[in-house]
Amino acid sequence: TILSTREMLLKAQNEHYAVPAFNIHNMETMQVIVDAAVQLRSPLIIAATPSTVQYADRDYLVAMAQTAAKQTDLPIAVHLDHHENITDIKASIDAGFRSAMIDASREPFEKNIALVREVTAYAHRYDTTVEAELGKLVGQEDDLIVDEAASAYTDPELAAEFVLATGIDSLAVAIGTAHGLYKGVPKLDFDRLKDIRAKVDIPLVLHGASDVPDELVQKAIALGICKVNVATDLKIPFADAVKKFFTANPSASDPRKYMTPGKEAMAKIAAHKIKVCGSENRY
Ligand code: 13P
Ligand code: ZN
Ligand code: NA
Repeated sequence: TILSTREMLLKAQNEHYAVPAFNIHNMETMQVIVDAAVQLRSPLIIAATPSTVQYADRDYLVAMAQTAAKQTDLPIAVHLDHHENITDIKASIDAGFRSAMIDASREPFEKNIALVREVTAYAHRYDTTVEAELGKLVGQEDDLIVDEAASAYTDPELAAEFVLATGIDSLAVAIGTAHGLYKGVPKLDFDRLKDIRAKVDIPLVLHGASDVPDELVQKAIALGICKVNVATDLKIPFADAVKKFFTANPSASDPRKYMTPGKEAMAKIAAHKIKVCGSENRY
């Protein structure tokens, strides 16, 4: 069965590793990350943004995730990533999602709390875990775009208040990562992360982990991150491999042929990210 992220994140927190949350878009990408997790005996969070839910259909996503979960004893969660619309979140929980991020990080503090509370009140009735964000990540995640001027780091003091007031199960922190690729090497505010960890006792989530050097991701995990979100680093090699295939085979039309190199390229990077998270052989 599809699980919430409750147990898997608490185990990761206790044992000081992180569960990878990989963004998928369709059956092929879901198969790749599930196979990688199964091969390496890693817990897995399958993540879908609002535009993925719209593209792939929530019932298809749940059915595919259930099929994946049936094939293994490893914990697999299916998670709503960066959702802003509460009606959509409720509909996806009704459809079988058991983990949701309500991203009201654009709103002022009190409004953010009110929106998140509405989601936790509903989600917890269905044993669904809730992630929320305080602070704002710069960059673009599908249709969600935040420019530099609007970005803000998480305030540790407010974070503690936010967790208490909302009843969330995990907290996404803004400490210098960004969605997508970076211009140089990202500067992460590890002191801030330490401070947040000292004041907040629930699992902490790192967004924007693509293009962050492995050592920095591992340092963030050592300082308390227990969920690492990766989208872009999986998407690019998939697309590049498919492009390369079409360049070499311009008349190709069989999806089973042209999707396969994409899947293989993505599988390698998924396995690598699992190792960086330290989630290999935890079950
Ligand atoms: P990246 O695209 O930088 O990996 O960010 C992923 C993310 O935060 C998904 O929520
Ligand atoms: Zn994100
Ligand atoms: Na990134």
